[in-house]
Amino acid sequence: MNLSVISGNANPALAEAVARILGTKLIARTLQRFPDSELHIEIQESVRTADVYIIQPTSPPVDSHLMELLMLADACRRAGAARITAVVPYIGYARQDRRSSGREPVGARLVADLVAAAHIDRIVAMDTHTTGLEGVFPVPLEHLSAVDTLAAALATRMPSNGVVMSPDLGGVKLAERYSRKLKLPLAIVHKTRLSGLNVKAVSIVGDVKGRTPIVVDDMISTGGTIEAALHAASEAGAARGPMVAATHAVLVGPAVERLKPLGLTRLVVSDSVALSTGADVLPIEVASIAPVLAEAISRLNQGKSLGDLLVRA
Ligand code: R5P
Repeated sequence: MNLSVISGNANPALAEAVARILGTKLIARTLQRFPDSELHIEIQESVRTADVYIIQPTSPPVDSHLMELLMLADACRRAGAARITAVVPYIGYARQDRRSSGREPVGARLVADLVAAAHIDRIVAMDTHTTGLEGVFPVPLEHLSAVDTLAAALATRMPSNGVVMSPDLGGVKLAERYSRKLKLPLAIVHKTRLSGLNVKAVSIVGDVKGRTPIVVDDMISTGGTIEAALHAASEAGAARGPMVAATHAVLVGPAVERLKPLGLTRLVVSDSVALSTGADVLPIEVASIAPVLAEAISRLNQGKSLGDLLVRA
């Protein structure tokens, strides 16, 4: 099937990198806002009978980028696309996959229903907050990972006394994969979330004394989780010069101010979301996931197995 790649406004640099690897160009389109802020989209090339891949992480502003994705999908469907795959390396609302108290929505489920309503046939995501997200979506979700890419970047300068740390219980599976790749022991922080902005590290399971912490996480949002984990590590006698690796450098609110004083020697992240301005004061290193996404798109287009690219629960 004829392959077409198109991008919203969320991360055009990533979309262009993917298209380049695939040996194609992004489909021309316009995305404009009417004076009342309503979105208007027009696709300027034919996608009739095409196998379309829309590359659009739903990073902040989450709702705008989500709407762009849905509108692009609708435009492609009405223009006769044969199949539509949403490549959403970072999925906003994924953390709202259940109700933690009464009278809350299940945001992840609502987003999943909207995706299905927009006639998106398949989602390609990366290091989602929980592997259970697959069960929330009524369409197939291919769960890729940036762990190999980020671990390879970390491995270029790795302290011999390192310890991989999961900053919370939910991140243990992800941290296990780093620990296996880097051949380092694992420690786990028991974290409690006090609010969207604040968390508290209660205790650490595992030995971090005299070791260099390498905190790994699916995402850094406000930086509170990383900050709490590294304070706990320091109190437990960890060595100075910690490192952090995270797939999604969302970096909102006080993230940069929180991360800056932590004395990080390296902050290794992927380009799943566009970096916010001001992040360059951090020792940030970006390892691109474009090759992984391009490989997945190429295989899907040719009907080949994604096997070794997928995260298994
Ligand atoms: C939560 O469980 C996630 O894995 C991340 O640890 C969390 O979303 C990071 O958020 P923040 O940076 O705001 O603490």
